[in-house]
Amino acid sequence: MDERVTLRSHLDRAAPLMPQGTAVAEVIAALAAASVELAALIADGPLVGITGQSGGVNADGDQQKDIDVAADEMMRRALRHAPVAALVSEEAALPETLDPAAPLCVAIDPLDGSSNLENNISVGTIFSIRPRGNDILSTFFEPGTAQCAAGFVVYGPQTTLVLALNRQVDIFILDRRSQQFILVKQGVKVRSDTPEFAINASNRRHWHGPVRAYIDECLAGTNGDRDADFNMRWIGSLVAEALRILVRGGVFLYPADARPGYREGRLRLLYEAHPMALVMEWAGGSASTGRRRILELGAKTPHQRVPLIMGSVRGVRDVAAIHEGIEPMFDNSDAPLFARRGLFR
Ligand code: F6P
Ligand code: MN
Repeated sequence: MDERVTLRSHLDRAAPLMPQGTAVAEVIAALAAASVELAALIADGPLVGITGQSGGVNADGDQQKDIDVAADEMMRRALRHAPVAALVSEEAALPETLDPAAPLCVAIDPLDGSSNLENNISVGTIFSIRPRGNDILSTFFEPGTAQCAAGFVVYGPQTTLVLALNRQVDIFILDRRSQQFILVKQGVKVRSDTPEFAINASNRRHWHGPVRAYIDECLAGTNGDRDADFNMRWIGSLVAEALRILVRGGVFLYPADARPGYREGRLRLLYEAHPMALVMEWAGGSASTGRRRILELGAKTPHQRVPLIMGSVRGVRDVAAIHEGIEPMFDNSDAPLFARRGLFR
């Protein structure tokens, strides 16, 4: 007998334990099925006509590739047959109403990190599920704590599904023979204190003081005031960074910075920061803007951006500690001001 736990049996077991559990399970199953299809398309790439050419610009000004458009269509098609009232996707300017009588709303980044694809680096799909409110579209403007489930798929050497459901985080891998997701890690916990950070350091000159002060402390390691030397990773693909944090801890930062258009950071609240924050918190980690808990924020527009600092509790707490007491209006000041009032002085 096959002792392996499939996603399907996991969902069947979880559904009775939560409100609207059957509908939530149906939506997750639909997204998972679409991601199996998308994994195959990504793996074949140019062999099946995916050229990586630009298909235009998305709602948020990012270059869209043919594969972004295909991913969006696949996810949208899957959700049309699931109990979903409305959908916000990175690839469309406006929310789409699907079945107004359905109990759930979904926000999705169909293909995160697609600029990495031609280098054969991991990309992914990120999703966030919440119960529909009386006014369907206002549902998306509730804080992230309204989410009832979230997760992401990584299309890498393996196709991995990370699922936050019923206040725990589980990891599944796609078995290509049976085309089923199989549970490989249950109740994942983010290590509380891993000395590893991830940030796009090419933007250092644009960072605000508190972020520069934190990264400078990490770089100085035990030569400075830290009790450990830090390692650094930067993949440039949010889903891959998040999976690494779940596996070995550390902190990821995409802060706001002084570049035009980056006042609120780069990542989007509804379908990047909210779902990642739910995954991190339910796995015992945390997620913050540096000043506020991500899950307490509500979006004002569908594609609102937000600074995101997530991962091990200690890393996120240390970044927040440097921000404490500094008025946001002084964020742009010189780093030494912050270094002097650093964490261990
Ligand atoms: O969706 C945004 C994204 O592709 C993330 O996956 C990644 O973290 C980020 O952009 C990288 O942005 P940049 O290379 O512009 O710093
Ligand atoms: Mn993305």
